[in-house]
Amino acid sequence: MKLTNQIAIISGGLGDIGSAIATELADCGADIAIGDIKQEAAAASVIASIQSLGRKAVYTQVDISRSDEVEEWINTTSRALGVPSLIIPNAAIARMSNIKKLSFHDWDQQLLINLNGAFYMSRAAANKLVEMKMGGRIVFIGSWAAHRVHRHLPAYCVGKAGLRMLSQCMAAEYAENGILVNEIAPGTVNAGLSAAILKGKPQVQKSIKSQIPVGKLIEPVEVAKQVAYLCDPDNHHITGSTLLMDGGLSLGNLNIK
Ligand SMILES: NC(=O)c1ccc[n+]([C@@H]2O[C@H](COP(=O)([O-])OP(=O)(O)OC[C@H]3O[C@@H](n4cnc5c(N)ncnc54)[C@H](O)[C@@H]3O)[C@@H](O)[C@H]2O)c1
Repeated sequence: MKLTNQIAIISGGLGDIGSAIATELADCGADIAIGDIKQEAAAASVIASIQSLGRKAVYTQVDISRSDEVEEWINTTSRALGVPSLIIPNAAIARMSNIKKLSFHDWDQQLLINLNGAFYMSRAAANKLVEMKMGGRIVFIGSWAAHRVHRHLPAYCVGKAGLRMLSQCMAAEYAENGILVNEIAPGTVNAGLSAAILKGKPQVQKSIKSQIPVGKLIEPVEVAKQVAYLCDPDNHHITGSTLLMDGGLSLGNLNIK
């Protein structure tokens, strides 16, 4: 699939899934703007791998939970590469705590980054496209946690549920502008937030795998390929949808033999 002449902007682009998305979209022909809260030095290898594919790549250190920084990021990217037409709100954090003990600070931080940050980014980028009379694609990186309770991650679940409705509201709002908006909802990915939670806990890993009907964790590149699919300029109809890729986890069937 060709994404030539497209410019993609990805938040949390130095994380495991974000960097896989950046490389995949570059491989499909897009130039790439990566934003993340990490220092610029951390971006060197991702930027180099995008450039080795013959595409342009720029990095901006940005805190996605700050609307002023996000607006500035969209503007500087538009000046450096052109107006981004593929918008991928991906940055998120997860703080383990059940709801009885969850601190207000951890609640606030997760909603600020995971939900508000995605809103600031997608709205600023979509309004820029409208101003320029350009169409585009927004692909939110959601989660199966939007519709299934994870007792150890309540604020994360609430944020992802909000993100799903944000995706649908934006799909309704921007369809007339040729901007299609969808969500990818992965199950357990062998990376990033899950890897941090599962690190050094082989028994938990085994137990999680045994509950996934297809019996495998998802690799970041597999998420990235579905993002590329939803960015396809030949798609004129898929909007407001959730692409659930959880290996059947959400089916949650009780199997008594
Ligand atoms: N790993 C999984 O199992 C899994 C499953 C379903 C959904 N997801 C979703 O995939 C996305 C990527 O997660 P990941 O697993 O690659 O995690 P990750 O931790 O590897 O990547 C997240 C990135 O976001 C960045 N970030 C954090 N706070 C930020 C802020 N305030 N501003 C800008 N950037 C910030 C981090 O620095 C990091 O690079 C998230 O939206 C996550 O909810 C992950």
